[in-house]
Amino acid sequence: MSISTILLAAGQGTRMNSDLPKVLHRIAGAPLVAHALRVANMLDPARMIVVTGFGADAVARAVAWHAPQAEIVHQPEQRGTAHAVAQAAPLLADFDGDAVVLYGDTPFVSAETLERLQAARCDFDLVVLGFEAADPARYGRLVMAGDSLQRIVEFKDATTEERAITLCNSGVVCAQAQVLFDLVERVENNNAAGEYYLTDIVALARAQGLRAGVVCCDQAETLGINTRTELAEAEATFQARARANALENGVTLSAPDTVIFAIDTEIGRDAIIGPHVVFGPGVTIESGAEVRAFCDLEGCHISRGAVVGPFARLRPGAELAEDVRVGNFVEIKNAVVDEGAKINHLSYVGDAHVGEHANIGAGTVTCNYDGVFKHRTEIGARAFIGSDTMLVAPVRVGAGAMTASGSVVTRDVPDGAMAIGRARQDNKPGLATRLFDRLRALKSAAQKEQS
Ligand code: UD1
Ligand code: CA
Repeated sequence: MSISTILLAAGQGTRMNSDLPKVLHRIAGAPLVAHALRVANMLDPARMIVVTGFGADAVARAVAWHAPQAEIVHQPEQRGTAHAVAQAAPLLADFDGDAVVLYGDTPFVSAETLERLQAARCDFDLVVLGFEAADPARYGRLVMAGDSLQRIVEFKDATTEERAITLCNSGVVCAQAQVLFDLVERVENNNAAGEYYLTDIVALARAQGLRAGVVCCDQAETLGINTRTELAEAEATFQARARANALENGVTLSAPDTVIFAIDTEIGRDAIIGPHVVFGPGVTIESGAEVRAFCDLEGCHISRGAVVGPFARLRPGAELAEDVRVGNFVEIKNAVVDEGAKINHLSYVGDAHVGEHANIGAGTVTCNYDGVFKHRTEIGARAFIGSDTMLVAPVRVGAGAMTASGSVVTRDVPDGAMAIGRARQDNKPGLATRLFDRLRALKSAAQKEQS
């Protein structure tokens, strides 16, 4: 059965108290809508529709970045969830598979739950994803008769008796697309909020003799984010799962609670991650690599046998080959570091290529930026860069070449050559002693004058 997803992301999210559309607030380094698109992707959809409204341009940009195949439809006024779904109808007019309604602010629905939702379509025309709520609060309530769902009542419209129901609506719905649009078309807005409620389609379906049912999942999966507090809780939920997954996959985390994962962090088996490591988006770490305490990594790749940190920062485009060493207070950006190279202390390597087994001395800087343009630095295999070398890019240091400590290297260094680019040292015999004597005499004269 072919599936299309309709992802609702038009709301402002008033309770976030923010200028940013709700779905652009971040969990694990990625906007909520990116998490929701991941959920949609798990259904392997034929078509992916996203309904935008508040901050539509910014939301559309985020969608295009995270799911280029998604189609966007604009809901100029947020007149309710049924009205939002109706916006997708023209796009899916010729689609005869099922449609699943998902939400931009509901990031954690699992693949297993989605499978059960689809499977339940064998028994029901309309399937709603529900959950037993510890505190049902403002959620819509699912009114059941045996196995069959009778209707959904919104909290605002519910009687005291209905409010006592703990089986709640997640909002996720699955039905044949044209059946869904036909039902949505007939929803009215005569309710407490004056909105077109998607939830009303259940009673409408029943009235037509269609069968409606419920599939239940854990409340944590349908967690909708409406406030900053819920955002923070969702972040914690995400991190707890990511840590548990990593441990289960054979990654050593010496202090799991202090490691922060991103939406797409990938770490191989037998990698070792020390305390207080922060992963931004786009990090992949191969099996057997080690990241020591207090590293900040983003958009980088660390190969087998490499050791990074403590206190290292890898920025986008940092590619470390096997057995590379990157030590404390080293920053690497947009640079490929070949096998066995060492950058152990206090260095900046940006827009560069470091050849295999090169050794980069402490305090080396690739001066890659001239204030307007960025330039590249090439360091050959087995080159030895002396401590405190300034490599003024564009510049190339040849294979097996050396630079003298403290050099400012502005011209290419041929293979096997030694570059010395610093003032020559001059020793003045006895000058230090004479200088000290004079300074001490001046100090004691000044002290006498004061007393
Ligand atoms: C909705 C359900 C409620 C359910 C709850 C679960 C309805 C009427 N109610 O309530 O039964 O328990 O979700 O979280 O469906 N949206 C649009 N366009 C609109 C209106 C909403 O895109 O015109 C989007 C919002 O951005 C939001 C989502 O739909 O992501 C849900 O809308 P919201 O107003 O938050 O519904 P709830 O009151 O949470
Ligand atoms: Ca909501």
